[in-house]
This record gives sequence, structure tokens and C-alpha cells, in this order.
Amino acid sequence: MARALVLKSTSEPLSLEVNPIPTAVPGSVVVKVLGLAVIPYLHAILDGSLPYSITLPMVPGSSCIARIHSVGPDAISLSPGKLVFCDLTVRARDDPNLAILMGIHGGAAPKLMDGEWRDGAYAEYAKFPIENVFPLNEEILLRKLGYSIEDLCTIPSHLIPYGGLSEIDVRAGDTIIVAPATGKFGGSAVTTALAMGASVVACGRNASTLQTMSTLFSSTGRLSTVILTGDVAVDTKAMIAASGNDGKGADAYIDFSPPEAAKSNHIRAALAALRPKGRAVFMGGIVGGVEINYQMVMMKSLRVQGKFMYEREMIVRLIGMVENGNLKLGETGTGFKTVGRFGLDGIQDALIAAKDTAGWGKQVVLLP
Ligand SMILES: NC(=O)c1ccc[n+]([C@@H]2O[C@H](COP(=O)([O-])OP(=O)(O)OC[C@H]3O[C@@H](n4cnc5c(N)ncnc54)[C@H](OP(=O)(O)O)[C@@H]3O)[C@@H](O)[C@H]2O)c1
Repeated sequence: MARALVLKSTSEPLSLEVNPIPTAVPGSVVVKVLGLAVIPYLHAILDGSLPYSITLPMVPGSSCIARIHSVGPDAISLSPGKLVFCDLTVRARDDPNLAILMGIHGGAAPKLMDGEWRDGAYAEYAKFPIENVFPLNEEILLRKLGYSIEDLCTIPSHLIPYGGLSEIDVRAGDTIIVAPATGKFGGSAVTTALAMGASVVACGRNASTLQTMSTLFSSTGRLSTVILTGDVAVDTKAMIAASGNDGKGADAYIDFSPPEAAKSNHIRAALAALRPKGRAVFMGGIVGGVEINYQMVMMKSLRVQGKFMYEREMIVRLIGMVENGNLKLGETGTGFKTVGRFGLDGIQDALIAAKDTAGWGKQVVLLP
């Protein structure tokens, strides 16, 4: 038997229950959950104020760091005791373009959440699809590099921007505009792009956060910052100047705008600051349309696309970047600080503390 947090209704708080440990059937792995970061708006999903599609009752979910407890009979290389990263993006096996976020959002394949993959990792033990479980090199990560489980809990924050950066083929030697760069995922896009060998133009309204980033990553020699004024012409000029590249503009742009930035001019400015044949990826949460200069996109042959999460092979590559030391975790590496640690019985305090971790560089962790 093991403890799990269960949401029975959006009008009731999570209840801590004791249930049987899940069974690993073919195609699945059961893990002992070691740690996960609590997303800042989880409280709003659980109380229904953020109307994500969820099937109740359910155990909420997140990607997590875990140790394998048991494996289904078709597991070949995964075995009990192994340290692993477990991804919450569950894709339909008969149509991988359709996915849910386990324990958070029924997304495009609610049938998966209705049945087999309803319960997430807010528990002592959780069951994941076998293809969502990725081995971690414990010797390198915990001993040689000296990371804690909390440090490893920041992997998902980098994985999401890595999905977009990979999708538009950002490579060493490219210059990429990140705007806004001061949010949780925008900030992680800065760190991740630097780790990939790109030069970064980090743009935002918050001069103090940009200054902190600038200081932390000064040793790379590849980070410049632009304080957004809201004037498209002024911001475009500043982004082009910061991109170097003989004034031709940046190679790429990644956007992580939240809904409240829908009317901000930074997207227009960043697109205008791209060189001909530049690439842009939209990964934010804007609902509805944004104004884009159609003729400029056409005349400069720009490529503009969206990206939801990341693909499986990107998880393998990002873990490789962490194990090889390209992406350095921890407060001095990515700037991420753990500001709260809670057990399952402290979930209500964890949800409150996590609200304050929106923005770059902070996390609250649950250590079941
Ligand atoms: N594509 C995906 O798979 C995926 C995955 C996860 C999340 N997302 C989306 O990513 C978005 C960002 O999430 P987050 O956690 O990074 O948010 P966050 O930590 O709250 O950061 C928000 C960022 O937006 C900036 N901002 C807010 N209002 C603005 C405005 N009016 N004008 C210009 N900038 C503004 C903030 O700048 P200041 O510092 O100046 O306030 C900050 O840089 C969310 O909407 C989420 O839905 C997408």
C-alpha cells in the first residue's frame, strides 16, 4: 500500500489516501516518485478556476524524478532500482500526434485520461507508459556532478523550451531572440539556448531580472539583453543591434508569451528583427490572434511555427546535455533556486508557495 493525493471534486481539497501500489502491466513501468516541481498554477487547475479538461477522481501529475519499482514483462533495458526521469506527456500509441498531460490535462486524447493514464505522480508510487521513462546516469548526475534530486526536478523547465529550440533547428553559432525572457520558460529558454551553443538576445520589461541573468551568464560571452520599451521600431532596432550579425538580424526567435501579453508589441518587434529566412517558434499561452506583418513574413521568407511540448528523442538529447555538462543545473548553473520543499501531507502549503514561483529561476518541490 502507498499514499497518493486524490482530487475527487474541484470543490474539495486534495485528499491523502492510502491505495494499493499500481501494478506494472505490459507497456508500463511503476516508479517510486522521488521529486517533482509544483507548477505555479496547479491550485487553479485543481479548484477548476483554470478550466483544463480533467477526469475525476484523479491523482494530479507532473514530470518527475523517480526510481523504478517494477517493470512490465516487455521491458528490455529498464529494471527495478534504476534512477529515471518520467515524462508526463502521454501520447496515443496509435496516433502520437494526440497527447494528454498526465494528471493535468486530458488535451487531445481524453480517452487516455478517462482510463489507463488518469493518475499522475503526486503519489509515493506512479505508473507511467514505458516509453515515458528515461534512464538517468546516477553515477554522473548525483556523484560526479553532485546534483540533488531538487536540481534534477528543473529538467522539465528546460525540456519545454528545448522542444521549441530543436524544432526550429537552433544550433551552435546561431543567434536567437528570447522574448519575453524573464518568465519561467523564457528564462529557461535563455539557459538552454546558451547550453546549445547559440548566442542569445534576452528581451523583457524587467531590467533587474535581465541584469541578474546577464551577470550569471557573463562567462559565456554570448548573452546580450534588451529592455523592451513597447515601441516596435525602437525595440526592433535594439534587437538587431544586439544580434550582431552585421545588422542582418537574428537567426531565430522563441516566444513564451502568457495570455496577458497578447497586446504586447514584442512579437512584432522580434519577427521584424529576424534576418531573411529566419525561424520563429510560438510556445506561449496567448488565446486568439496577434498582429503580424504578413508582407514582411512573405518578403523575408520567414518560417513561423508553433510547438506543444517536445518529442521523445528531444528528451534523450536534453538528458545527454545535462549528463555531458553542456547544460549545468543548480543555482549557479541555470539560476534555479528551490524556495520550498514539501511532503505529500504538506500539499496545501506547497500549492500556496508554488504560486510565487512564476517567473524565472524559482521552484517549489514535492518530495513524496
Ligand atoms: N508550448 C508549450 O508546450 C508550453 C508548455 C508550458 C507552458 N506554456 C505556456 O508558456 C506561457 C509562459 O509560461 P511561464 O510559466 O513562463 O510564465 P511566467 O513565468 O508567468 O512568465 C511570464 C512572462 O511574460 C512576461 N509578461 C507578462 N505580461 C506581459 C506583458 N503584458 N507584456 C510583455 N511581457 C509580459 C513576463 O514579464 P515580466 O517579468 O516583465 O512580468 C514574463 O517574462 C504560459 O502561458 C503557458 O501556457 C507552453
